[in-house]
Amino acid sequence: MATKKKRNAVPTVDPLLASREMILVAGSGGVGKTTVAAALGLAAVQRQSSRVLVLTVDPARRLATALGLEAFGNTPVRIDDEAFVEAGLEVRGELHVAMLDTKAGWDELIRRHAPDAATRDAVLANPLYQNITSRFVHSHDYLAMEQLHDLHATGDYDLVIVDTPPSRNALTILDAPGRMADFFGSRLLRWLTVPYRSRLFTFASKPFYKIADTILGSRFLQDIADFFVLFQAMESGFVRRAKEVEALLVDPRTAFVVVSTLEAAPAHEAKFLAESLTERKMPIGAIVANRVMPSHLADVAAGRAAEDLADQTGPEGDGVLAARVAEQIDANPEVVDAVLHRMAERFDDVAMVAAREAQRRSELASLAALTVDVPWLQGDIHDISGLGVLASHLRGAPDAPDLP
Ligand SMILES: Nc1ncnc2c1ncn2[C@@H]1O[C@H](COP(=O)(O)OP(=O)(O)O)[C@@H](O)[C@H]1O
Ligand SMILES: [Mg+2]
Repeated sequence: MATKKKRNAVPTVDPLLASREMILVAGSGGVGKTTVAAALGLAAVQRQSSRVLVLTVDPARRLATALGLEAFGNTPVRIDDEAFVEAGLEVRGELHVAMLDTKAGWDELIRRHAPDAATRDAVLANPLYQNITSRFVHSHDYLAMEQLHDLHATGDYDLVIVDTPPSRNALTILDAPGRMADFFGSRLLRWLTVPYRSRLFTFASKPFYKIADTILGSRFLQDIADFFVLFQAMESGFVRRAKEVEALLVDPRTAFVVVSTLEAAPAHEAKFLAESLTERKMPIGAIVANRVMPSHLADVAAGRAAEDLADQTGPEGDGVLAARVAEQIDANPEVVDAVLHRMAERFDDVAMVAAREAQRRSELASLAALTVDVPWLQGDIHDISGLGVLASHLRGAPDAPDLP
């Protein structure tokens, strides 16, 4: 006879962290991507004696400070073992963190793809270069993945976790490499790189350019043309790399972790993102439902408890319960009675939100093999011990404590 049915295993990111080399953390803005990325890194080094790198994009200031990311830069820094000890955490591996620096990232790309030193120096010195790169639509998305590609290629890390930039639409990151390749084939670039003399000649016939030339000087227009001519010289390098980066997204060593809260808008976007990933054969490692309400609040039992509490307090109640609680907490029984009654009456709202969250959660969970819940923790997560609490939830540690 079979023994008692095994209890369902607690959802945990552990196997994911052990089996992948690259993890991309995606989702809509503000849902906790940066925090989850950092906590995943911590979870990995708690479990494995490996070298893990977390590339963050926009850590909140206090978190950045806690991680030692005071100085901006693409150069990874290792978190001191002492910092983990202080936070009461045991780690086996090395946790490194870096912050995506767009300017430095672009300079790197130019250095790599420039066909020769003269082109490289000319681009870097071009007055328009900085201005244009900072405006490049979605250049953040592309650079985050470029960095992932690079850092993985160095072989210095067993696992690279990349936080993704805040964007209006979480999908933009998936399209970034293709967009980069398209840009080089675009009419815009071809137009911009028509030999500037002939273009100036055409410009000169149009009133706007006559004015532009007077105000800005032909030097400005020449700079633009120069820049794009130089830029075009890097086409093959850029396009090849974009293709490599694109291939990385469907590589079996890569996994996406989709983070979402269970509010309507982010959950909707997460669902869309997860479906798009699946369509594109990009592997979803896990969905992290972040800042969720405890599901037992949606239970029938919770509703009944609230009803009973409402009955036994307020004008209809006998005051016994309130008196007992008041004694416990050394407060005025009438005030306690009013608070309890009010809370019990308002519980419906809480239960309704919890029920809606549960619904959205099950819709999301159907899209991935693994869904992990992280509750709404008290206070922001801005230090290593806070990340430790988050990590323990991600790892499915049943006794994961709440923040103090
Ligand atoms: N489970 C959680 N409980 C409480 N606060 C959280 C939780 N997850 C994230 N936060 C907080 O939410 C804010 C936004 O998180 P962040 O990781 O910066 O989001 P994103 O990178 O998606 O924009 C931060 O202040 C962070 O500390
Ligand atoms: Mg972020």
